[in-house]
Amino acid sequence: MTALPPGSTIGILGGGQLGRMLAMAAAPLGFDVKIFVPQDNSPAERTAAGATVAGYDDLDAVEAFARGCDVVTYEFENVPADTARAVERAGVPLRPGAQALEVAQDRLKEKTFVNESGAATVAFAAVSSPDDFAGAADSVGFPAILKTRHGGYDGKGQAKVGSAAELESAFDSLGRRPCILEAMCGFVREVSVIAARSLDGDFVPYPLAENEHRDGILWRSTSPAEAKPAVNDEANRIARAILEALDYVGVIGVELFECEDGALLVNEFAPRVHNSGHWSIEGSQTSQFEQHIRAVAGWPLGDPAPLGRAQMVNLIGEDAETWPDLARESGAHIHLYGKNDIRPGRKMGHVTRVSPLKS
Ligand SMILES: Nc1ncnc2c1ncn2[C@@H]1O[C@H](COP(=O)(O)OP(=O)(O)O)[C@@H](O)[C@H]1O
Ligand SMILES: [Mg+2]
Repeated sequence: MTALPPGSTIGILGGGQLGRMLAMAAAPLGFDVKIFVPQDNSPAERTAAGATVAGYDDLDAVEAFARGCDVVTYEFENVPADTARAVERAGVPLRPGAQALEVAQDRLKEKTFVNESGAATVAFAAVSSPDDFAGAADSVGFPAILKTRHGGYDGKGQAKVGSAAELESAFDSLGRRPCILEAMCGFVREVSVIAARSLDGDFVPYPLAENEHRDGILWRSTSPAEAKPAVNDEANRIARAILEALDYVGVIGVELFECEDGALLVNEFAPRVHNSGHWSIEGSQTSQFEQHIRAVAGWPLGDPAPLGRAQMVNLIGEDAETWPDLARESGAHIHLYGKNDIRPGRKMGHVTRVSPLKS
C-alpha cells in the first residue's frame, strides 16, 4: 500500500456540500484540499485550501488542476467521463475510477450493472422513443415510473405512469429524453448501506440507515436501522459485490428497497459519500467523509462503529431558517452548507441528534 503522507493535496471535482464536508474531514488528517468547480463561491471552495473555477469541459484546466494534486476524487456523479479521463491523462490517480462515474450516470447502465454484479432490482426497460412504449409496458407492467436515464436527482426527471395510455404524456413531460421505465416497488421501507473499500481491497460497511423521503427528496435518515441480521448481511453482500465489480476505492452509497418478505432490491447507487451517511459525522467512530479521505489517500479504513442511535434530518428550503431554535437545542448538531439563496427543495443543511443505543 502506498499511503499519501500528511501534507499531500487531495483534489475534489465538484463544489457542493459533499465537497465541503470532505474538505473539513481532510483537514485533521493533515491534507490540503483543492476544489474544481464550475461556479464561483461554492460551498466547498469556502472550506478548502484552493479552487479552480472552470467548466468541466475545459480539459486543459482539468489537467492543470490534476497536476497540482496527489490524488483526485469527486463529490458529484455527473462529472463528465471526458473530465475523468483528463485527470487520468495527467498521470494523477482518480479514486474512485472513471468506470464508477460512467455506470452511475446512466440509470439503464446502472441497473444492468447491478444485476450483473449479482444484486436484484425492480423490472426495467429502456424507453428511447415511442416505438419502445409497447414492449416496455409489457415487460415492466403498471404502476411504473418513467425516469430520465441521465441527470436526475432529488426526485427530478421522474414521472409516475399508471397505465400504457399515460406513457406518451409522461415521456413528453420529461422532454422526450432517453428514459428508463421502472416497475413501482411496494417497499415496506427504504434503507441504504454506506460502505468503503480501501486501496488494498478491504471492505468496511456502516450500519444500515433507514431513509424517509418527502417529495422524492431525502428527509430523514436513522442509523442503525432496526433490521433483521439477515437483511443487514444481504445489504453488505450487495454493497461488497458492487464495490468489487467496480474495483472501487472510496465510499459508496447504495439505496435499497426492503420488500415485505425481507428481500432487498437496489434502487440506485451513488459513487461518492451519500446524504444518508451524514449521521456518521457525530454518530460513528469514523465519519463517512473521513473514511472516503482515508480510502482515496491509501490509508487504512477507520472504525465505522456507531456511537449511538443517530437521526439526521435535512434542512430543505426554508427549514434552514429554523437555525436560531436549533442553536438553542442541546445535542442538535447543526450543519449549514453556506448556500446563499434559499430555494424550495434545495438542501441547505442538516441537523443530527444522537441518542444512546438501546442495550
Ligand atoms: N421504482 C420505484 N418504486 C418505488 N419508489 C421509487 C422507485 N424509484 C424511485 N422511487 C422513490 O423516489 C425516490 C427518488 O428516486 P431515485 O431513483 O432514488 O432518484 P434520485 O436520483 O432523485 O434520488 C426514491 O428514494 C423512492 O422513494
Ligand atoms: Mg435516490
